[in-house]
Amino acid sequence: MLILKSPAKINLFLRILRRRPDGYHEIASLFQAVDLCDTLHLATAQADHFTCTDPSLAVDATNLVVKAIHLFRAQTRITTPLSIHLEKLIPQQAGLGGGSSNAATTLWGLNELCGRPASTAQLAAWGAAIGSDVSFFLSGGTAYCTGRGECVQNLEPLNPLELTIVKPAEGLSTPLVYGKVKADLLPHRNPEQVLEQFKNGIFDYFNDLEEAAFGVMGSLAELKSRLLQSGFSAVLMSGSGSSFFCTGEGKVPSDLKHYRVRTLNRPSEEWYKLKAKR
Ligand code: C5P
Repeated sequence: MLILKSPAKINLFLRILRRRPDGYHEIASLFQAVDLCDTLHLATAQADHFTCTDPSLAVDATNLVVKAIHLFRAQTRITTPLSIHLEKLIPQQAGLGGGSSNAATTLWGLNELCGRPASTAQLAAWGAAIGSDVSFFLSGGTAYCTGRGECVQNLEPLNPLELTIVKPAEGLSTPLVYGKVKADLLPHRNPEQVLEQFKNGIFDYFNDLEEAAFGVMGSLAELKSRLLQSGFSAVLMSGSGSSFFCTGEGKVPSDLKHYRVRTLNRPSEEWYKLKAKR
């Protein structure tokens, strides 16, 4: 039996470069894992059995955990029956990559349970077929991601950050937000330069998807202003929203869910582990 943490991610910056002929967008983004985690319990069993604490999440073939199991079996031809239980904590439709993280954690865990038939690099390459963010979670937790997000350059951990993630009640659909992006009208920032600044401790947060997301859900722009006025130093949407991560100290409106998180990294041979809480 393996019990594995499945962390959320934020995008410290997210640049949209262009829309591609296949409908995806070419991005350049600094992804960072954080210690807001789901938990996966995986074991070999007599027959396949998958359960989840969140009744709103289907446990059928649409679930990214199930997609990861099918993918692993197709690639390795190892079909040992499995019992998997998913404890959900990461909010959905939040831009925090929860489903992608669950898929990556399943791939990593299955590979361990089955005697490591694949390398982590192979798992990351397979994972891209499930979703653009899956490969990132097989990195060390800090990575510069390009292409549609699946080209992952693993980076040394940045200086640790403590953040507040704020999640409005309403979620956002990733394809809907990407569909509203006007890539040609975005500021022409050079992502390689921004990345170098981050490596040197100058954190120039931005997210090219914000305007598109604010177009879909007008209340988000208002929420961002409120959070900034309440004292946070920077307030940035994560991925395609609807959650924000905030730096510094501020007051979150009492009706909104929020999470205090820290950046999370893992050593190359181990999976993500939580550090003792403050
Ligand atoms: O790869 P994933 O399944 O997570 O993507 C969901 C949707 O988000 C895609 O179908 C596409 O509409 C949009 N997307 C995009 N460009 C990306 C990633 C996602 O347009 N780089």
